[in-house]
Amino acid sequence: MTATPDTSAQSATATERLSPDHTGIARAVEIWRAGGRVAFPTETVYGLGADARQGRAVAGIYAAKGRPAFNPLIVHVAGLAQARDLALFDPQAEALARAFWPGPLSLVLPRRAGCGLSDLVSAGLPDVALRVPAHPLARQLLAAFGGPVAAPSANPSGRISPTTAAHVLTALEGRIEAVIDGGPCSCGLESTILGRGPDGRWRILRPGAVTDADVARILGYLPAPQEGTAPDAPRAPGMMASHYAPEARLRLGVGMARSGAVHLGFGPPVPGEALNLSPSADLAEAAANLFAMLHEADRRARTAGGIISVAPIPEMGLGLAINDRLRRAAAPR
Ligand code: TXA
Ligand code: MG
Repeated sequence: MTATPDTSAQSATATERLSPDHTGIARAVEIWRAGGRVAFPTETVYGLGADARQGRAVAGIYAAKGRPAFNPLIVHVAGLAQARDLALFDPQAEALARAFWPGPLSLVLPRRAGCGLSDLVSAGLPDVALRVPAHPLARQLLAAFGGPVAAPSANPSGRISPTTAAHVLTALEGRIEAVIDGGPCSCGLESTILGRGPDGRWRILRPGAVTDADVARILGYLPAPQEGTAPDAPRAPGMMASHYAPEARLRLGVGMARSGAVHLGFGPPVPGEALNLSPSADLAEAAANLFAMLHEADRRARTAGGIISVAPIPEMGLGLAINDRLRRAAAPR
């Protein structure tokens, strides 16, 4: 029996155009609360926003962008106080935030336990990228929403970033619930991303409007550029040393649960399975559950043979990203 995957997160949606006023902001907030996607302007580029606490809403971002893999997303908040609820700020992170927020700087920081963020926004990493944008409309939206908004640039994967609402619509019309038109972005270049390297020193993970010299004034040293990557090539999360990889060995494409393995199902439950990514074979639900269930399966596998078996996931839509992540987790180490 083959389950038919539900690709609802990718199905056609009439994209609403919202005005940058009280009515438009209220509607955007309503859509975010309901788990939908609203593209909105920041001073850098338009972001494709969704509630960072709702796994399925975050999965909807990846589905609309057609991302072949789960790159971690930047989480946008209204201010430093909200950011502190989500991540751990050491004194230098605090100083950087005070110097450059609101503004085009994203800080990669350790997630706070119980922060409520979906695992998917961090692609299963222990860190989260946070930013307080300066665009007045973005600030009003975040204040009205009152929660964290995950937002990558509002372009399909591999295409250039949008700096007007028209760019967003050209690429994503019919794939997202709404766009709020705040005019052209003033910066047009994505934010600088700054995080600590394995040696504890800060480094630039993606260059942007906040330069290494700007950052050096706060840190007292020049942050290293990210090694071995083109200027806009972000670190592939699966390649990062800090990336979560299960201790257990993974076997993929396994149709049934066997003794000696913790089975992670997909679609109609099979006898003996430990966990199920989505009994209804909904890829958005499976994406939302992926990292939390991998952690849990890994925990259980420690006392149950050290093997996790995973049911076949269709190679379509979000299934491509799910399988990409599973293959990385299964790769020999
Ligand atoms: O200006 C910007 O930063 C725009 C606006 C909308 O805020 N956003 C943006 O997002 O450019 P995006 O998804 O296109 O690029 C974010 C990149 C990811 O590709 C990822 O490599 C990096 O930020 N990133 C996010 N979270 C990370 C994390 N926890 N660790 C390392 N890198 C992270
Ligand atoms: Mg981008």
